[in-house]
Amino acid sequence: MYLLGFDVGSSSVKASVLNGETGEIVSSAFYPKKEMTITAKQAGWAEQEPSGWWENLKLATQEAMRGGNVSAEAIGAIGISYQMHGLVLVDKHQEVLRPSIIWCDSRASEIGQNAFETLGEERCLADLLNSPGNFTAAKLKWVKDNEPELFKRIDKFMLPGDYIAMKMTGEVRTTISGLSEGIFWNFRENGLSEMLMKEFGFEDNLAAELVPTFGIQGLVTDKAAKELGIKSGIPVAYRAGDQPNNALSLNVLQPGEIATTAGTSGVVYGVSDTVKYDPLSRVNTFAHVNHSEEANRLGVLLCINGTGILNSWLNRHVGNETLSYPEMNALAAQVPVGSDGVSVLPFGNGAERVLANKEVGAQISGLNFNIHNRKHLFRAAQEGIVFSFRYGMDIMKEMGIDAKVIRAGKANMFLSPVFRETLANISGATIELYNTDGSVGAARGAGIGAGYYSGFEEAFSGLKRLEVVEPDSNKKEATEEAYKKWLDVLNRFI
Ligand code: XUL
Repeated sequence: MYLLGFDVGSSSVKASVLNGETGEIVSSAFYPKKEMTITAKQAGWAEQEPSGWWENLKLATQEAMRGGNVSAEAIGAIGISYQMHGLVLVDKHQEVLRPSIIWCDSRASEIGQNAFETLGEERCLADLLNSPGNFTAAKLKWVKDNEPELFKRIDKFMLPGDYIAMKMTGEVRTTISGLSEGIFWNFRENGLSEMLMKEFGFEDNLAAELVPTFGIQGLVTDKAAKELGIKSGIPVAYRAGDQPNNALSLNVLQPGEIATTAGTSGVVYGVSDTVKYDPLSRVNTFAHVNHSEEANRLGVLLCINGTGILNSWLNRHVGNETLSYPEMNALAAQVPVGSDGVSVLPFGNGAERVLANKEVGAQISGLNFNIHNRKHLFRAAQEGIVFSFRYGMDIMKEMGIDAKVIRAGKANMFLSPVFRETLANISGATIELYNTDGSVGAARGAGIGAGYYSGFEEAFSGLKRLEVVEPDSNKKEATEEAYKKWLDVLNRFI
């Protein structure tokens, strides 16, 4: 059986066809070829049209099917990975009511913080494991307060992946993991949080029906089958936010295991079987893909909004789009550790949770016009992103999550030797790189959900470790020194 996996990101939508039997990736395609736009009507806002995700998903599917010579009949199940924490609103005809307010939109930070204080921090942390922060529930409250007429027309709110599944199956459904990433889920009572719904004035029926993360979540309609070029009636059998899905892709499912990713945003994600949360909600705890009432599997998630998006900004505006990413990486590697004194804070993509939702902005420090050039900027940007990971990993360490081995897909920023070596040197962890990505992980998830695989072990038999990066003791001191300098710059802004 062939399995079709999607990764619906904020830069692009990727589709991969996996041969379920051999574990081989038959073909992949992504759309659009240049990054999707994020609209910011005001500073700190970030919106995208859900229809744009769907259009790009159709194009990516068609290209992947053509590229791999895959017949429509060959696809047996579908899995979806999606950008987390976004808000999609539909009326009772399943028509989208407004652009999606996406994960890096900061407009609801104050609403979430006020609710945290009003409801009581201890109560919120005990039930929700987080502050309502700047997540989906707080975004929905912003709509209620600022667009009351539109709010009245809402039939259901959804996460971005729920919208994609709705377009495929005609069913408006969500998951526990989805509700937890929106801060709607009460972990103590295993249900929708009454406390939060009441505080924000939401009726319970605004929430979609629950389906399991792995399982038959709906069947592809005739209309969607035609649009995608696949058979109707096949199941959508898995969906998860892109970060728990990245962990699944890397077979990071058990307590103590750690996954990372560095796409538009960057994440370090540790699995825990005991309830762990940061009292300041600088790192967040959500339900992992294999979480259940009987056995806690919680994902402790450090997110840096400004990761690959900083590198792509440099590519466009400093490299003038004439340099490829491998060329930028090669130039960065010509500069010594510490970028000859240049420090970059990568915080130019909205409020950063790790900085208690402060909007620090991206900052360049230590630039000397007679010494430095773009190579220094390219390296300092990559180092700055890794240093922001280290900053958050220190908070995770205080919570008892100590990274000794970190798994990542060999993709995005992990294609840069400077990036992966700096991460190994500053964290002291071994970095393992695998032949997978979010769309391939989602395809494997679909195989599990549809019952094609007997379990995780069988699903991951095709996962291969491609490279191991060990910390280099010769570079440890210089890297630590550069981190201290970076931290001094950060402390001027927080
Ligand atoms: C994770 C997060 C981002 C988005 C990006 O908590 O906010 O990584 O999921 O799509």
